[in-house]
Amino acid sequence: MQTVSDTEELRELRREWGSAGDHIALIPTMGNLHRGHLSLVELAREHAEKVVVSIFVNPTQFGDGEDFEEYPRTLDRDKRRLVRAGVDMLYVPAAEALYPFGVENATVVSVPALSNDFCGEFRPGHFDGVSSVVTRLFGLVRPDVAVFGQKDYQQQLIIRRMTEDLSLRIRIVTGQTVREDDGLALSSRNQYLTDEERAIAPTLFQTLQNIGTALQAGKRNFEELEEEAVATLTKAGFISDYVCIRRAENLAVPDRDCDELVVFAAGTLGAARLIDNIVITV
Ligand code: PAJ
Repeated sequence: MQTVSDTEELRELRREWGSAGDHIALIPTMGNLHRGHLSLVELAREHAEKVVVSIFVNPTQFGDGEDFEEYPRTLDRDKRRLVRAGVDMLYVPAAEALYPFGVENATVVSVPALSNDFCGEFRPGHFDGVSSVVTRLFGLVRPDVAVFGQKDYQQQLIIRRMTEDLSLRIRIVTGQTVREDDGLALSSRNQYLTDEERAIAPTLFQTLQNIGTALQAGKRNFEELEEEAVATLTKAGFISDYVCIRRAENLAVPDRDCDELVVFAAGTLGAARLIDNIVITV
């Protein structure tokens, strides 16, 4: 595996691979890699000859008072995992390479139709930071394919919309959420949980699954199901941001006949903000 920080070195290797006819898949990450990230590497392999993983803790997607400073940075361990996973290039750009005019004056790419509700409401500016940094990574790496996790459902929809809207000609592939045995979705933020909170955390996925079961059974009282779920999470100890049932395709309010639904939720448990979702075909 080659570890590259320098833009010229990145371009040179990209050129070499391109002229050999290799397709390139990019997996953007913020590091602190776990099995969820590594499952995206496996998926990327199915779509391209060369797999690039980027690690960059992107300041523009963290709000004031969020965990930018504390976000776990574990580059040496990440490198070992990526070598074992057979990744071709680890791209670790400096902030100056990604934001050559500085973070304050940076061009912003925004997908307003999908960015302002749900997690966007509770983290103002977060998704503009995500779509902007992903655009920058796309411009530098110029991948044929980019792989994202379903775990961040709203994020992958935003990236899909942005890629299509800007005619970026990059195929977006979404990988399934990897979970612990008790259902908790793997996340770098799980390590902020105390033992007691860790025992409560799977309630989030269970609550989504209960809604899924009700929907499969033909229930269509969406608002009631959402409210019951918020009550369950609050009782368990979460400060619930939202539980929503929406059209999987575009997060619009579904009508009774909608057959592809996403049930997604976010809430804070102790020091960790957790998110999760399931997609239901009814
Ligand atoms: P990060 O949280 O590091 O996640 C990188 C990728 O891994 C995302 O596409 C995310 O959805 C996926 N992922 C996280 N947990 C997963 C799990 N349990 N199962 C499967 N995939 C999982 O998401 C970001 O970074 C950033 O916002 C980024 C896109 C890199 C932009 O800065």
